[in-house]
Amino acid sequence: MWAELRDLREEIDVGTPPRNGVEVALTIDGLAVQVPSGSSIMLAAAKAGQSVPKLCATDTLEPFGSCRVCLVEIEGRKGFPASCTTLVEEGMVVKTQSDDLQKLRKGVLELYLSDFPEQDIEGGWSEFHETLKQCGVTSHPYRKGDNHQDAPVDESNPYFLFDPAKCIVCSRCVRACEEIQGTFALTISGRGFESQVAAGENHSFFESECVSCGACVQTCPTQALVEKSLFEGGYQRG
Ligand code: SF4
Ligand code: FES
Repeated sequence: MWAELRDLREEIDVGTPPRNGVEVALTIDGLAVQVPSGSSIMLAAAKAGQSVPKLCATDTLEPFGSCRVCLVEIEGRKGFPASCTTLVEEGMVVKTQSDDLQKLRKGVLELYLSDFPEQDIEGGWSEFHETLKQCGVTSHPYRKGDNHQDAPVDESNPYFLFDPAKCIVCSRCVRACEEIQGTFALTISGRGFESQVAAGENHSFFESECVSCGACVQTCPTQALVEKSLFEGGYQRG
């Protein structure tokens, strides 16, 4: 089943949508590249053949900048900006790989992993798993604390289910619902640890305004939203 999913997602996702504008020249990891103004550094990196790890970004949706996995270094700038929401500038010199970046990405991914079903860390497949692999993260150093691993699965929709234990609250489903379908059926409710995907107020997916277009399932990077048809004999976490 995971192999089928992998085949479906074979195409390269450059992270943010293409733009039309005058060409801007910059350097990514020592490679000269030109992209239209208004493009993200992430897109320029993809054009230069450098893949920046990402979770909340995808080239079918506007960038959001919430996961902090795609950080880069820019010569002359302090800090580590997100490459999905930072736009290219003429003459920019960008690094997508360094020891500091590796440490930062690892820290962020380990936190996500600490609230992900343990039995699905190895052997599963999703964009999340691919990003973990890309950053060399296979485990996390945290003890079992508060988590979402016992949250009930919403199987109310006839075509897909939602497993909150696998949700990293990247908001891609919410944005796909708005930007692709224009339905506004989904939202992120709560704050901090309480943040979760909600289909309307205290509604199941079936009772909500969801029209089952599948845009949310298509974009989910963790398989928290996943087609039911993939699970013969019923869904089991892991
Ligand atoms: S259900 Fe999937 S797409 Fe939606 S917020 Fe959770 S991980 Fe992201
Ligand atoms: S991919 Fe850039 S912040 Fe998530």
